[in-house]
Amino acid sequence: MAKCIKNFESLNLILDACFEHRLDRQSLLIAFGGGVIGDMTGFAASIYQRGISFIQIPTTLLAQVDASVGGKTGINNRYGKNLIGSFWQPCAVYCDSAFLKTLPKREFAAGVAEIIKMAVTFDKDFFEWLETHDLHDETHLTTAIHKSIAIKADVVSQDETERGIRAILNYGHTFAHVIENQTQYSTYLHGEAVAIGIVMANALAQKLGLLSKEEGSRIEALLERYALPTHYDISDPEAFYDAFFLDKKSAHDKITFILANGIGGNDMRNNITKEVVLEALKDVNV
Ligand code: GLY
Repeated sequence: MAKCIKNFESLNLILDACFEHRLDRQSLLIAFGGGVIGDMTGFAASIYQRGISFIQIPTTLLAQVDASVGGKTGINNRYGKNLIGSFWQPCAVYCDSAFLKTLPKREFAAGVAEIIKMAVTFDKDFFEWLETHDLHDETHLTTAIHKSIAIKADVVSQDETERGIRAILNYGHTFAHVIENQTQYSTYLHGEAVAIGIVMANALAQKLGLLSKEEGSRIEALLERYALPTHYDISDPEAFYDAFFLDKKSAHDKITFILANGIGGNDMRNNITKEVVLEALKDVNV
């Protein structure tokens, strides 16, 4: 897999092109591609001449159901993922399921991980529907895309800048970002790392009595049905724990964990002790 290009160098290429083509404040950028393209184009649009318009035309499932909606833009640096960025809303998002016909299998599954994320944390009926409907069927896929975008749009409309409920959309991501950073963004697609992160978050939720073992197994089974990875070897649990502090959701030396509270419910905790987190990591590291 190619090294991630969501960095300052690529951002500069976009900005240089804007200057070379003499874009002005009435100009519009079009992000045509997956989440990386959307995030970088959106960020360039947000800072070029203090902000110009952009539209999103997401061509991957993950970008259609999650990344293109809600105005998060940004790039990575060596300290972590999406640590530099802005909230900058696209003036339109155009989704066409025709783009998904040629998606590689892994890219498709990575998008399904984000769909499962929304169902687990916000909608039990949707989760149960996912358990009984195969998303390789185009009609079911279209239904799932609509449902996921509706959940996301509802959350973002309540909390655009992630002061509260929007953080729930990061379920699995606190762990995923560490995995992605430790593997230099070159082993896992984002959605694959999220799938592993969901299983890790569930281990923690089970320790805290928020999720039953049976519910955890159902979530894992749904991820596995799409051949998503659910295990990552943590070679150094202490280092893994320390890496959480680079997460944007950690503040004043406290890490905020986003957890499932049963299937269809959610919880946000910032008072979990290091010992409990390390025990949960041990449970999934067997
Ligand atoms: N991908 C999570 C969010 O947009 O808030």
